[in-house]
Amino acid sequence: MEPQLAATDYHMQVATAVDERRLWQRHLKMAVFGARDDGGVNRQALSPADVSARIQLIEWATSRGYACATDPVGNLFVRREGRNPSLPAILTGSHLDSQPAGGKFDGVYGVLAGMEVLHALDTVGVATERAIEVVAWTNEEGSRFVPGMAGSSAFAGTLPLEKLLATRDREGILFEDALASVLAATPNVKRRALGFPVGAYLEAHIEQGPVLESTRCGIGVVAGIQGTRWFTVHVKGASAHAGTTPLAMRRDAFKATTSIVTALSSLLADGDDVLRFTVGRVVVEPNSPNTVPGSVQFTIDFRHPDFEILKKLGDRVESTCMEHAGKCDILVNETLNMSPIQFDKTITDIVSAAADELGLARMFLTSGAFHDAKSLSEMCPTGMIFVPCANGISHSPSENADPAGLAAGARVLALAVEQLAQRTTLSSPGRR
Ligand code: GLV
Ligand code: MN
Ligand code: MN
Repeated sequence: MEPQLAATDYHMQVATAVDERRLWQRHLKMAVFGARDDGGVNRQALSPADVSARIQLIEWATSRGYACATDPVGNLFVRREGRNPSLPAILTGSHLDSQPAGGKFDGVYGVLAGMEVLHALDTVGVATERAIEVVAWTNEEGSRFVPGMAGSSAFAGTLPLEKLLATRDREGILFEDALASVLAATPNVKRRALGFPVGAYLEAHIEQGPVLESTRCGIGVVAGIQGTRWFTVHVKGASAHAGTTPLAMRRDAFKATTSIVTALSSLLADGDDVLRFTVGRVVVEPNSPNTVPGSVQFTIDFRHPDFEILKKLGDRVESTCMEHAGKCDILVNETLNMSPIQFDKTITDIVSAAADELGLARMFLTSGAFHDAKSLSEMCPTGMIFVPCANGISHSPSENADPAGLAAGARVLALAVEQLAQRTTLSSPGRR
């Protein structure tokens, strides 16, 4: 059936066809794959749990007749055809991988909300000019393979394919080998080339912060994403006997690390509490109570919405580490350097109008987390929709969200994606 009604009428039908219960049940189903004893999720990219989640997604897609395809980095696409298949599709989605101690919503929500959009358009019988594709990007989190946003960056051409395939996880497993086992487990999924023209990209995600909940605002229209720089620091000392080695003779990598982290904390102190600085992973070796630590490797996650501050302070990280290393040697590697971005005004206008049409309170927000939308913003008009999460908590097993809030975000997504998919012309990336 073609939409015969005025847009506002069939928009309401599409919104109503978004099924809150189905969306919620699908989150619970996905949370089984990589479930942790504490109620959280550990679903590392290209792991057996990721394979199970992919198979589930493919089952949901094929049971509705959508074509599935995967590209050379394992990004997985579900396509609802448009009237004009030669027009670049509208993409919506997010990621299925999680943090090691992650929750049930970060990433998965964007994928499942996208599936709900396809389902709702089918229920109402809306045909669109452009195809709509739901995408699950590979390795967004960066917790197994560094950097994060890997699949979407390779897709957008900002991370070379060979470099990603040659990346190893902490056990030494190659991305390429982990990917091969995923592809072997999903043999009936069509292969497609890496990267193709995209009309526009819109990603739904939980906010992962407290603003929407505390202001009782159901929809965040994401104005942009703050910048992020990641570093790994290797502090090389010498392991020695803890009982016999005089302090003056030691090259204690852990003590040097404490001095370095204290110095970095001063460098990156911010009275306004806008800057973010985290040392999230510390690997001490040999990690034995009676041995002086000979080696420490730690990560730095540094974020700021202002490009100049990100540049100025980030450029001082390496020298600060060197200056406070004492007798240890230092090796600093920058593994991610993502400038702050502003999303496309066409998209933020459409998202705002969709929220207004549905009578949902909305506000503009800048994302503190990075997302695959950053990668896509390099190649097409891009935007994001945030929904609240409980107490603003994310990257934690206690991550939670309200079923009605998730459905509201999916309804805004449905209206916005449908409108984008009816447009035969869409501009290349513009900035707000
Ligand atoms: C994404 O997960 C981030 O760390 O911002
Ligand atoms: Mn995410
Ligand atoms: Mn995350």
